Amino acid sequence: MLDQINQISKTILNTGVTSIPKFLNETEVEKIKNFVGKPKKGSKEGNYPITISQLLAKIFKFEFKKLSNTFFLLKIAKKFHFKEIAAKALDSKDVDLQMIDCYYNERSPENIISWHNDIGCKNLDDKKYLKEFHEAVKSTFFDIKTETSPRGIKFFLYLTDVQKSNGSLAIIPYSNQIIKTLCTLIADNKIELKKFWSLKNLREFINDTKVRKLLEEKIGKEKIDTFLNETNFIISEKKDTEKYDLELNQGGLVIFDELCVHRGSAPQKTSRLVLRFIYRKKLN
Ligand SMILES: [Fe+2]
Repeated sequence: MLDQINQISKTILNTGVTSIPKFLNETEVEKIKNFVGKPKKGSKEGNYPITISQLLAKIFKFEFKKLSNTFFLLKIAKKFHFKEIAAKALDSKDVDLQMIDCYYNERSPENIISWHNDIGCKNLDDKKYLKEFHEAVKSTFFDIKTETSPRGIKFFLYLTDVQKSNGSLAIIPYSNQIIKTLCTLIADNKIELKKFWSLKNLREFINDTKVRKLLEEKIGKEKIDTFLNETNFIISEKKDTEKYDLELNQGGLVIFDELCVHRGSAPQKTSRLVLRFIYRKKLN
């Protein structure tokens, strides 16, 4: 088991992503599906208590069913060493489980979320986004505790089958390294911040002569060239690719670094139900 944990976390640390088909069996998936319902993203119904105060709040409200369901999910995370995998994948001594949630997406022709990374600044004119970005950089790369928690490792456990153009997640391997280097150059005041949450903006940022030169000095020309070539699709007519989609049946698991560039495809044929565990570095 230790070998397996080491292998999985090494892959995530390096490439940013890995997937495990048939992670849960049919019985386990059905058991979870029986209690999760069809919650909206961010709803109270889809959130599971994980901190002591959240757990106590459920006890005081006599929400014992929610508690026993939470313990079932925590047991899965413990049995399969999610915490150890996340810590090693983040090269960190200790991590915290930040969130367990579940959400349901109805069939739709629209992507669940377009190509983006989870730390990139969305809007330079909005002080809230700017503050969050700078705080996230401090906590993620410099271990400084701020109001914004560091970016970490997400575990996506599918409760329905996903395929290309039907709810699958696509993740660009090694893009975590590009984002990390870009963020540290910004933090060191070597380059001026530009918005780069969306893949289109990220590419424009990297294509700036000065930025590209500094990135190449840090991680090599080949990695930057490969990333730009592999993401050319975003300026093509279709503005998308299916090359990086991870197709999985229900019970399958995707583990990825939040710094990676990723996209959630449209659940065009069937609705999608996913359970997420998020682990982030523990900062004191
Ligand atoms: Fe995301």
